[in-house]
Amino acid sequence: MQTPRRVEHELTDKGYVPVYTTAVVEQPWDSYSPEDHDTWAQLFQRQQEILRGRACAEFLDNQRRMGMTANAIPKFADLNVHLQAATGWKLIAVEGLLPELTFFEHLAAREFPVTWWIRKPEQIDYISEPDLFHDLYGHVPLLMNPIFANYMQAYGAGGVRASTFGNEPLTNLTRLYWYTVEFGLINTPEGPRIYGAGILSSKGESIHSLESATPNQIGFDVRRVMRTRYRIDSYQKTYFVIDSFEQLFKATVDPDFGPIYYDLKGAESIPAGNVLDSDRVYQRGTGEGWPTDADV
Ligand code: PHE
Ligand code: FE
Repeated sequence: MQTPRRVEHELTDKGYVPVYTTAVVEQPWDSYSPEDHDTWAQLFQRQQEILRGRACAEFLDNQRRMGMTANAIPKFADLNVHLQAATGWKLIAVEGLLPELTFFEHLAAREFPVTWWIRKPEQIDYISEPDLFHDLYGHVPLLMNPIFANYMQAYGAGGVRASTFGNEPLTNLTRLYWYTVEFGLINTPEGPRIYGAGILSSKGESIHSLESATPNQIGFDVRRVMRTRYRIDSYQKTYFVIDSFEQLFKATVDPDFGPIYYDLKGAESIPAGNVLDSDRVYQRGTGEGWPTDADV
């Protein structure tokens, strides 16, 4: 079998630009080097220690249930046996970033795209685009949770639909994904815990999101989130906290976003670090060291 391509951002005269690819490939498991497996092992072990008492129980329990360990890069086919039984989701291997609509279509079909390649050793602490560790370690365990799994599918279907409405609805929806699936926190009796994959796969942000005095922690509200800008190049200035996956599901999946997109049309966006009078504030961040240039 031919090893699939490793599609990464490219350096042009405009700096680094993302490169998109649509191919669905076979996970070339035999092509992983000992160094690749070692990178997985190092990252896995490090996050396991940090996430005890920080990640939500649904994440940690399901990760164990699927048989993910530090030993070796998991085979997607093995994980798929567990996913199929639990929620009917299926991992598909991809070469890099997908165009937005292609990504939505896969989610709507309960297929989760996972980048087949893992970062290089020199990228252990930071990589600017998703690799196998982020996609698999961060995103996949919660797909075992039936409510979260349904949320992800509905998000995909909502994305396909929003694509026909134009840019503003898509921006609103992207912010929702960012502040839930990637950077979400959830309330538990023991305090806030992490469920967002962007945090779960990051050593620094796992600690920062919960223990630093710098960021805001604000109660989740769909319209508020949809208006909020975000950072892609630093820790988040604000984390939104849900009470339960049921709450997230009820606030997003049942209501038709059509009227919400309509209401938010032309509404001013909210800078990533701002706190509003209407916010339910769990922590007002000190904002120490925040970048002051514009958020995305
Ligand atoms: N309810 C949304 C719509 O009407 C779809 C959606 C579901 C969006 C879940 C995000 C998350 O388009
Ligand atoms: Fe991600």
